Amino acid sequence: MNYPNNECALPLEERLRQYAATDAYPFHMPGHKRQAGALGGALPEALDITEIDGFDDLHDPEGVLADAMDRAARLYGSKKARFLVNGSTCGILAGIHAAAPRGSTVLVARNCHKSVYHAIELLDLRPVYLAPVIDPYSGVAGSIDPADVETALAEHPDARLVVITSPTYEGVMSELPGIALRCSRAGVPLLVDEAHGAHFGLRGGFAASATGCADLVVQSLHKTLPSPTQTALLHWNSKLIPFEAVEHALDIFETSSPSYPLMAAMDHCLHLLEADGEALLAAWADRMERFDRAVWGLKRLRVLGKGGDAVELHPDFWYLDPSKIVILGRGAGLTGPALMAALRERFGLELEMAAGDYAVAMTGLCDTDEGMERLVRALWTLEREAEEANVPTLSERDLPRRVPVPEWAAPAAACLRAEREWLQPRQAVGRISAEYVWAYPPGIPVLTPGERVGIRQAEQLEWMAACGVSLKHTGGREGLLAVVCETAPADL
Ligand SMILES: Cc1ncc(COP(=O)(O)O)c(C=O)c1O
Repeated sequence: MNYPNNECALPLEERLRQYAATDAYPFHMPGHKRQAGALGGALPEALDITEIDGFDDLHDPEGVLADAMDRAARLYGSKKARFLVNGSTCGILAGIHAAAPRGSTVLVARNCHKSVYHAIELLDLRPVYLAPVIDPYSGVAGSIDPADVETALAEHPDARLVVITSPTYEGVMSELPGIALRCSRAGVPLLVDEAHGAHFGLRGGFAASATGCADLVVQSLHKTLPSPTQTALLHWNSKLIPFEAVEHALDIFETSSPSYPLMAAMDHCLHLLEADGEALLAAWADRMERFDRAVWGLKRLRVLGKGGDAVELHPDFWYLDPSKIVILGRGAGLTGPALMAALRERFGLELEMAAGDYAVAMTGLCDTDEGMERLVRALWTLEREAEEANVPTLSERDLPRRVPVPEWAAPAAACLRAEREWLQPRQAVGRISAEYVWAYPPGIPVLTPGERVGIRQAEQLEWMAACGVSLKHTGGREGLLAVVCETAPADL
């Protein structure tokens, strides 16, 4: 079939094949890095079945799927594991549903993924936010301090769940054993979003997994490991949350037609980890050490925790996942989006995301030496160009000490339905948001529905837009904030 000379008219598959034929290198998810054979060949049509006899049922596992999920639990040291074919998103929604009754109070790190905010909306929860401190060197949100969790638990004895993201998109980890201890003393379960840490907790792995201490842990296999997009795990380890409640919640949030090719690929990934995980992780760690050494001497571009920088120099980080490459562009006159665009357009390197000050390259188990070396060469080229042209550094920002948390004014679901109007961010100060606003990735909201717009949020949105960060306004009007009309009923 002939298509008009318009790229957008190409069917998706053809577009994907054309892209695959380029030499673009993926410093983004999924973790198999598009390497032929990395998924074990589990994707052909012949394997795409439904729950026919002999192939078990994900929602009532007793056979081959129960065995595969038991293997996942053994590998990561949890009591039970469940396959997720709708990503960590569905595990987070299910975990929060299982633990927090409708309308209850939950303690949530403000730098959580949007799925956590969606659970809050769906269950009409009352969130109390734990605001991470901000690392002044990089602008990256730091770890959640166990002492802050302890204080929040004491101030909110009605809290039914604590939700923490560790590691974050930037690889920042929190001291989970300390947090878990505070939670268990208070009798409150802990859910850890470890979507970015499926490579933790394995023999020879980069760090301990939250499965060693948290009640519920969600991990995206697809983010760092050779497993297809959408594949993830939910681990259960809890005395406080009945496993039946988790299963019921998964019945609600996970498709009733789980893909066998996706589940087979997860099983393949787990077998691979069991058989060769230690050696593969060691090779990955070695690639990261070589990268670390290769960026020593960069002065204008900086790499967080690498090339002479170290986690010890950042008291706001408890630990940094060595697999993440967070590149700070300010010294070379580059915002995060400009840096990401330069790496894409000039060096064929596609990164995972850009924030105002930095861009994040995600590595995984399947990266190649060639890909890593290309990134090193690109960084040195940009460094030299900035030096030779004596590019002015971008001016320092006035960073708040903590991630700003807007005042909660009304439930999210009610505000999403309320009559609205659209205003420029500064005009909206003092008004109640009727929408979510975030950059995706990482999907961490600047505002959620029901929060009062503060000057900090207006400034942050203006600054992000000026840096070229593309902001998603769920209210539908780019650059304008949807706010609840002042004529809306007071009892929203
Ligand atoms: C911290 C965090 N949690 C959860 C998710 C959702 O994961 P998934 O894409 O597997 O649904 C993401 C997605 O990027 C994330 O960054």
